[in-house]
Amino acid sequence: SRGKKKTFPLQKYLTDKFVFVFSEGVQDDEDVKQMLQGSSMVKVRSPRWQKRRTLKLLEDGVTVWCQSHKTSSRAKEQQSFSIMEVECVREGCQSELLRRMVGTVPEGSCLTVVFKGPRKSLDLLCHSDEEAQRWARGIRKLQERVENMTQKEKLDQYPKIRQDSVKLRADQNHDDKMSYEEVQTLLQMINIDLSDQYARSLFQKCDRSADGRLDHGEIEVFCRELLRRPELDAVFIRYSANGCVLSTVDLRDFLKDQGEDSSLIHAQSLILTYELNEWAQKNQFMTPNGFTMYMLSKENCIFNPEHGRVYQDMKQPLAHYFISSSHNTYLTKDQLTGDSSTEPYIRALNHGCRCVELDCWDGDKGEPVIYHGHTLTSKVPFVEVIQTINEYAFKASPYPLILSLENHCSVEQQTVMARHLRSILGDKLLTKPLEGIDIQTLPSPEDLKGKILVKGKKQHVVEGSSDSSDFSSSDEEVTSFVCVSFQPGVSKLSPELSDLVVYTRSVPFKSFEQAAKNPATDMSSFSESEALRFIKESGMSFVRHNGHQLSRIYPSGQRLQSSNYNPQEMWNAGCQIVALNFQTPGEQMDLNHGRFMQNGQCGYILKPPFMYHPETTFNPENVGGGPGHRPVLLTVRIISAQQLPKPQWDKPSSIVDPQVWVEIHGVPIDIDKKKSHHVDNNGFNPRWDCTFNFTIHVPDLALVRFMVEDYDYTSRNDFLGQCTLPFTSLRTGYRHVRLLKLDGSSLSPSSLFIHVKVTPCQRSSFN
Ligand SMILES: *[C@@H]1O[C@H](CO)[C@@H](O)[C@H](O)[C@H]1NC(C)=O
Ligand SMILES: *[C@@H]1O[C@H](CO)[C@@H](O)[C@H](O)[C@H]1NC(C)=O
Repeated sequence: SRGKKKTFPLQKYLTDKFVFVFSEGVQDDEDVKQMLQGSSMVKVRSPRWQKRRTLKLLEDGVTVWCQSHKTSSRAKEQQSFSIMEVECVREGCQSELLRRMVGTVPEGSCLTVVFKGPRKSLDLLCHSDEEAQRWARGIRKLQERVENMTQKEKLDQYPKIRQDSVKLRADQNHDDKMSYEEVQTLLQMINIDLSDQYARSLFQKCDRSADGRLDHGEIEVFCRELLRRPELDAVFIRYSANGCVLSTVDLRDFLKDQGEDSSLIHAQSLILTYELNEWAQKNQFMTPNGFTMYMLSKENCIFNPEHGRVYQDMKQPLAHYFISSSHNTYLTKDQLTGDSSTEPYIRALNHGCRCVELDCWDGDKGEPVIYHGHTLTSKVPFVEVIQTINEYAFKASPYPLILSLENHCSVEQQTVMARHLRSILGDKLLTKPLEGIDIQTLPSPEDLKGKILVKGKKQHVVEGSSDSSDFSSSDEEVTSFVCVSFQPGVSKLSPELSDLVVYTRSVPFKSFEQAAKNPATDMSSFSESEALRFIKESGMSFVRHNGHQLSRIYPSGQRLQSSNYNPQEMWNAGCQIVALNFQTPGEQMDLNHGRFMQNGQCGYILKPPFMYHPETTFNPENVGGGPGHRPVLLTVRIISAQQLPKPQWDKPSSIVDPQVWVEIHGVPIDIDKKKSHHVDNNGFNPRWDCTFNFTIHVPDLALVRFMVEDYDYTSRNDFLGQCTLPFTSLRTGYRHVRLLKLDGSSLSPSSLFIHVKVTPCQRSSFN
């Protein structure tokens, strides 16, 4: 005998889905208990639109239903949210809407649930202050719980998570058998979105007794079938000497081919962690189940886990880093009609963004406001934005935050801005140069940890540099399409505000020769088209310039829908502050997300040395070798996918015809993309076994994007999911690629299963 089975097969499946977050200390938590019981609240959409709702946490520990009291049959899907989709919970009247209602609602009973991505926030009014606090605390606890759980813990905890009790509750008539409807309830309870077609055919296959019900043994088979991965079994068989189990030696050989630590000790520790069969574990074998478990774990993910923490040198001058940067941060949507709000600042900061933008204009009663000038976008008070920034600045990253001020205010209101900045940000605000560092050089992210820097014009003249106070206070003013009524009279600078600019002093760009003579603390902004022109005409000079001073790139004013330009072209030239509209999802934001995924997502990525060396001859347009060129052959085999979603707007009955793109984004000679054929009618476990070769000349700048689409004969293909990561963070061997939604949030359990190989090219063949 192989010993007693420790787990039910369903468990492995669930463990991978991370849906069960309950464990001791959380499910017995008073706040969570209240959430499970449900609370009646008022949902507020405007001062006049207020409706009663019941909010209730489901058994899965992550889904909250928001039920209307009227029994309407509207899709429940839309009336629920997942704890994992929550960006943060704000207590009291903090959203724009609730702030407007201060005085008419009890402030302590108010809550705002802010979501990741563009979903509208949920403003709620509870019965009591205590209830509001319970929900806020409860949501945070559940979020923390999900984050806290390591894979090992998830495994250990699972047996306690009474999968039996879930099963029992799904077995509504307690006959110890499950009808198709009960199986559906079970799948729903554990949040498995299986298409009716798959679920029904699987049910029929497992119902051996053909009585329309699954007994205990049949449920096990049902769950095992859900899990089946023949392509993983094939890998297992290839490495197993006896075809049944992997010995530590077999596993070591596998790890060696994966390009990983291939010591026997590592192999043994993997068996201890992932093997669930006690007999096998004791005898140091890995069974196919244990292997599946390991292959599905985070530890085996395509992204190099070493790069998941801050691993780069953080002690170099700011100009040596790419800095995650947002444009028109205050906008919730496009720049003509979108509302201005504090919430996009929270989203950007929580995602490691280290340069946010504030378009400041004179407001009523002497208080400056932030909005997109001369448009219909709503306004948000400057003071509220600064309060929000103060709260969220360093939650995701300890490294310096840059406030890019687009200042259109009168001198009086600029002074008000300066006072708010000082009084609200306090010690975080950098008001004078750091001691012990030459004032003409840029400090490092390490030196500036925990500091907020103001980027703007500065009044006094530094020797050798131009006096900029006679120029417009706004970098984008001159080229911005919507700012046609620019008044030169607005360019006067308040000395108080000017004093707050220390290291990031905006100056107009004249020429690379001129800039080279100016201190490193000067910086210029370029529109995307100016930047592209410099890259084409004087790539090498631009790269050198960016080793010395910071450059900020902003989208053309013609992009009225707030679409984004391709940031890769700007990074190729070493531009640091490549500002994108974070509120506009799509390929460009995927690239930004991929670029900054590494180094602990701290928002600073050290450029490769050939980009900041003062004498560098790197030119992104070069095709014939030179610094940074070390060609490699990347071979990617797309093997299969698991549980792809349906396009959001599709009929529930439709089944996807998936195809996969592999794209290389990098210097112009490296740009390439290839696609697989499409698989008809299978989003659950499609297989391709398609192999692609790519030659990458400048791997240090390349990003690899995997994108899955639903093929359509008659119209445009629909986006299903994607994952973008730096080529240098890619691991070789058999790997799972976890897919993300358009808005960057997780699509778990959707993934691709691939094989990656990287081989250096013979240099001679590239001369
Ligand atoms: C998460 O981990 C931290 C640090 O280990 C611990 O203090 C905290 O209680 C944990 N939170 C939950 C909800 O388990
Ligand atoms: C990829 O390149 C390798 C090595 O040059 C070659 O053997 C293989 O046939 C190529 N595969 C494809 C699909 O082009």
